[in-house]
Amino acid sequence: MRNKMWRVVDLLDWTTRYFEQHGIRNPRLDAEVLLAHLLEKSRLQLYLHFEMPVFQEHLTPYRELIKKRIEHTPVSYLTNRKEFMSLDFYVDERVLIPRPETEQLVETILREKTGNSERLLELGTGSGVIATSLAVHQPEWEIIATDISEPALAVAQKNAETHVHTAQIKFLTGDLFEPIKAINPAGNIRFDWIVCNPPYVKKTEWDTLSPDVRDYEPEIALFAGDDGLAVIRRLIAEAPKYLAPNGKLIFEIGETQADTVRSLIDAEPAYCTYKLLKDYAEKERILLASTR
Ligand SMILES: C[S@@+](CC[C@H](N)C(=O)[O-])C[C@H]1O[C@@H](n2cnc3c(N)ncnc32)[C@H](O)[C@@H]1O
Repeated sequence: MRNKMWRVVDLLDWTTRYFEQHGIRNPRLDAEVLLAHLLEKSRLQLYLHFEMPVFQEHLTPYRELIKKRIEHTPVSYLTNRKEFMSLDFYVDERVLIPRPETEQLVETILREKTGNSERLLELGTGSGVIATSLAVHQPEWEIIATDISEPALAVAQKNAETHVHTAQIKFLTGDLFEPIKAINPAGNIRFDWIVCNPPYVKKTEWDTLSPDVRDYEPEIALFAGDDGLAVIRRLIAEAPKYLAPNGKLIFEIGETQADTVRSLIDAEPAYCTYKLLKDYAEKERILLASTR
């Protein structure tokens, strides 16, 4: 990459080939996103400036990004950005990179909501994308967002400050419902919604994950015991104690967990109705249950 006049188009072509040789799954896209990030342009602007020369001041940091990418550092950790519900969020290694399929959780809540001023609890907020995008769409809602990881909550707080009035979301640290118990020992606070994108990968599946995920994303955000259901089981059992009458529990599940989750819900008399919603690939990925 030294001693040569590089144009945007040459750099993209070279990087795409280099990424291909190193088994990077979306070589062209990743090359474009990384170069656009460094040049502070959109991908469209890159195309409009294909012939533009790229100078050493940018080539040196670009080389660093390429090096990290072939070591499988996820692109979002290199750019510190991820879009979710058309909003721009900050991310780094302290949090799971939000997945597009999780937008369906937010869309379902916005579609099924009944009132304008509801009270919502998000458990395991990570980067805060679910709580924050709901707060953007529903500024009247009272939202509490929790996570067991304090470093993750720092990221969530930063994202909330970017997009909403910070008083709208209260962030609490702790294991699942513990922080709610702590602020509400008498059990008077009840929620209309409890939402969660829990960790649900089996510990035994560790070596089947791609290195981008396995070696970089927080373990606590991914794994939930030997069968992947450790958090989901507790969620189903404990949520009714914190839901208002006709309250809703909604959470994401793994591709193969629908049948087990069905039997767990069937065995819990506090829920009167429930449905499993399919994603765009026709897989059941969201559980929505109502209490009496
Ligand atoms: C799959 S990530 C979801 C993050 C974010 N809500 C999203 O959808 O992108 C799961 C999150 O739950 C948190 N977590 C894991 N176990 C937890 C527990 N027992 N109590 C509270 N949070 C937990 C992790 O720290 C992580 O941030």
